[in-house]
Amino acid sequence: MSQFTQAIVRLPGSNYADGLTRVDLGVPSMARVMAQHERYCSVLRDCGLELTVLQADPRYPDGTFVEDTAVLLPDAAMITRPGADSRQGEVIAIDGALRTHYSSFERIEAPGTLDGGDICEADRHVFIGLSHRTNEEGAAQLAHWLREHGYTSSTVDIRGMDSILHLKSGIAWLGDHRLLVIEELADHPAFAGIEQVVVEPDEMYAANAIRVNDHVLVAKGYPKLQAQLEALGYDCVALDMSEYAKMDGGLSCLSLRF
Ligand code: GLY
Repeated sequence: MSQFTQAIVRLPGSNYADGLTRVDLGVPSMARVMAQHERYCSVLRDCGLELTVLQADPRYPDGTFVEDTAVLLPDAAMITRPGADSRQGEVIAIDGALRTHYSSFERIEAPGTLDGGDICEADRHVFIGLSHRTNEEGAAQLAHWLREHGYTSSTVDIRGMDSILHLKSGIAWLGDHRLLVIEELADHPAFAGIEQVVVEPDEMYAANAIRVNDHVLVAKGYPKLQAQLEALGYDCVALDMSEYAKMDGGLSCLSLRF
């Protein structure tokens, strides 16, 4: 599992609640949005990461979900073309921030669309979700770029699933040849031969966990999953994600880690 040293995050804006969501969990409280973001940043720093914190841009209420704007390998960056029209301009600020760290850049070109939330790196293999945000053209462009950089990839079609927005709403790579996965995806042929930690259906939201160096960040309030992970020896840090869940976001969405 690669060790991360850096992360890019973006502060939520005052119009955060105007962003996209498919769920009906109520209106986010801005005080809690900001407090949860602050705690998230503080935990990433505790995991050893140096953070670049970008300011909010009122044109992009979903802009805090920076993960969707890029796919990062250790020595190359792919700037995405988010599948929601309202989010496509978010990539400009991220491209600028990544210039300090990367010299090799590619971008997903129209008619391709791709959200980073659909991309799950599993060591030298990458799972690419085909979703309502990531289309076949975007997936093919990414697969080609990955091949050039020595990575293999496979697609996982989630377009028929109402339960998740992005592939990483339903899976997380834990390292150690192990995948956290929701029941609905557990039998997918792309995951054959990988040890799976299956998330109980009533804790599905918690599948969006992130391994950050020696820790696994998990959403707070999902004790069965946390116990499963701890039994496997993972050092879990639980974060309250209530206000991000309301906007269809999770732990992975809030940062670009590299
Ligand atoms: N609110 C996150 C998204 O729908 O893109």
